[in-house]
Amino acid sequence: MVDLSTTYLGMRLKNPLVAAASPLTKSVERVQKLEAAGIAAVVLYSLFEEQIISESLELDHFLSRSEGFSAEASSYLPDTGEYSLLPDRYLDHVQRVKKAIGIPVIGSLNGVSKGGWIRYARLIQEAGADALELNLYYLPTDASLKAHDIEDAQVELVAAVKSSISIPLAVKLSPFYTSLPNFVQMLADAGTDGFVLFNRFYQPDLDIEELSIAHTLELSALAELRLPLRWIAILHGRLKADLALTTGVRDHEGVIKAVMAGARVAMLASELLRKGPGRVAELLTDLTAWMSAREYTSIDQMRGSMNQQSVAEPAAFERANYMKVLGSYRDLP
Ligand SMILES: Cc1cc2nc3c(=O)[nH]c(=O)nc-3n(C[C@H](O)[C@H](O)[C@H](O)COP(=O)(O)O)c2cc1C
Repeated sequence: MVDLSTTYLGMRLKNPLVAAASPLTKSVERVQKLEAAGIAAVVLYSLFEEQIISESLELDHFLSRSEGFSAEASSYLPDTGEYSLLPDRYLDHVQRVKKAIGIPVIGSLNGVSKGGWIRYARLIQEAGADALELNLYYLPTDASLKAHDIEDAQVELVAAVKSSISIPLAVKLSPFYTSLPNFVQMLADAGTDGFVLFNRFYQPDLDIEELSIAHTLELSALAELRLPLRWIAILHGRLKADLALTTGVRDHEGVIKAVMAGARVAMLASELLRKGPGRVAELLTDLTAWMSAREYTSIDQMRGSMNQQSVAEPAAFERANYMKVLGSYRDLP
């Protein structure tokens, strides 16, 4: 008998498969299908800082032009009503998903600046989310911004969000930090309970005929798994916080690699968008069969067995591996 259960952010999960934030978690019906196929938890698609700010600005604008406008009237946001605020719909969605399924529901906020919008962390908690994922998606282009100023601001934001909620907080990061272990440690000290590695940046393409920017979203490829895998293997065992792997998990082998590197859960978006929620059941069958055949009895037994501190060749995760890999290329014409 194979025990697939794991824990993540203090929650007991029946297996390590979690649906990452994506359009799949935008509909209650699809989330129910994911649950029926065996997914252990779902991360809802994100509510963005920009959505919250723009909706409240629009409302302010509306109220300031309305008859009978008063300063008092512009200082609150109506909970319901004709304005149909997007953020309110998000909270409603959290509530509806939570009622419809029995597995943990993780809300997601996406933003970078410390401001009034972070009150939504608390509102997502009040709507019933079991945990919150904060996605720090930011691309600095201002040459006057110093790395430590950006990092300090993000640590402050995380601390502010953490202090406003009592549910666990995970932070979803990009891989582009100068000293990732140091930054992650600062975020852990600020109260982060888990790290979701890594955010996938969607790179704009150039349309050379139209001379415009092409926005096309490519789903992830298998090779992209290696970046989060490396960093999870390096970070596992050095932090108290949980690690979740996202990007490039396409099959049960990806899940096993994630766990062996040290992840508590493997998150999936592209694979489920390609193949549908039913793919979860196949992955679980394959995972169980693989573990049984090799006499693994539990996920806990595998976790971290190939982290940097456990492998025979720890330098393989560092610069030392660079020359070796380059030298291993044999396919010359
Ligand atoms: C269409 C689409 C929408 C996504 N929306 C969100 C989102 O709202 N918030 C978020 O944090 N990540 C979002 N992601 C990123 C995924 O959660 C995931 O981290 C990323 O796709 C890498 O995992 P994958 O290789 O399994 O796709 C989205 C991904 C896709 C493909």
